[in-house]
Amino acid sequence: MVPEKAGQLMVIGNWKMNTNVPEGIKLASKIRELLSGKAYHEIEVVLCPPFTSIAHISDVLSGSDLKLGAQNVFYEKEGPFTGEISARMLLGLCQFVIIGHSERRHVIGESNLDLNAKIKEVFSQDMNPILCVGETSEERDSGLTNVVVKEQIRQALDGVEDINGLAIAYEPVWAIGTGVPASFAQVEDVIESVIRGELATCYDDVISRITPVLYGGSVSSSNVAEFLGHSSIQGTLLGGASLDACEFVKIVDETASHLQ
Ligand code: 13P
Repeated sequence: MVPEKAGQLMVIGNWKMNTNVPEGIKLASKIRELLSGKAYHEIEVVLCPPFTSIAHISDVLSGSDLKLGAQNVFYEKEGPFTGEISARMLLGLCQFVIIGHSERRHVIGESNLDLNAKIKEVFSQDMNPILCVGETSEERDSGLTNVVVKEQIRQALDGVEDINGLAIAYEPVWAIGTGVPASFAQVEDVIESVIRGELATCYDDVISRITPVLYGGSVSSSNVAEFLGHSSIQGTLLGGASLDACEFVKIVDETASHLQ
């Protein structure tokens, strides 16, 4: 589950389209080994490998506190949808599903409406969606950041009455994979005025405050501290840094040192 207590933090590794099965097993095993014996149980650490490795990595992580997530799902339960994977198929393997990553929005062409259906399906299977939102550099330069992110939240959550279990990741597209993260001030501004503001409007102030909001975009062990220790951010969503076991564990360690 997403953190139930205020102050709990999340570290989520999105492996994207990297690692075959043996590589994935090796990476997950190394992460498990490096984290064993550490007091990270107050932090929700989630690995999101490609679909092909999920069942194998589920075995690797069995008996540990590490959790598994998928990078996507389709919004139907089953049927003639060649090449798609449903949330139902992931039951028992994953607890988390990343929804609306910018690469799915911009490379694959997923719309806010698609994501809305996916979130509903993930919730219907009692799994936890991690909704990604964020503006492109063109949108930011045109002063459209707030409008875009607000719309992404509003449409993705349309008709979702209970968002208990949802986490939101603010990932500005221009900060992903560039080595240049957004500044804390930029992140805080969007999280507080847009993301939490929209949650307060669509739900209420309590939900707005307790829904975990993460930052993602070029986070590394050398810059993660900037995003920790603030009540507006409950953790990080990592891309490149999650493919290196030592780097990933350094980020978990750094996160642990910021537990409130
Ligand atoms: P990077 O950490 O490689 O910038 O990727 C972030 C991301 O897209 C995580 O979902």
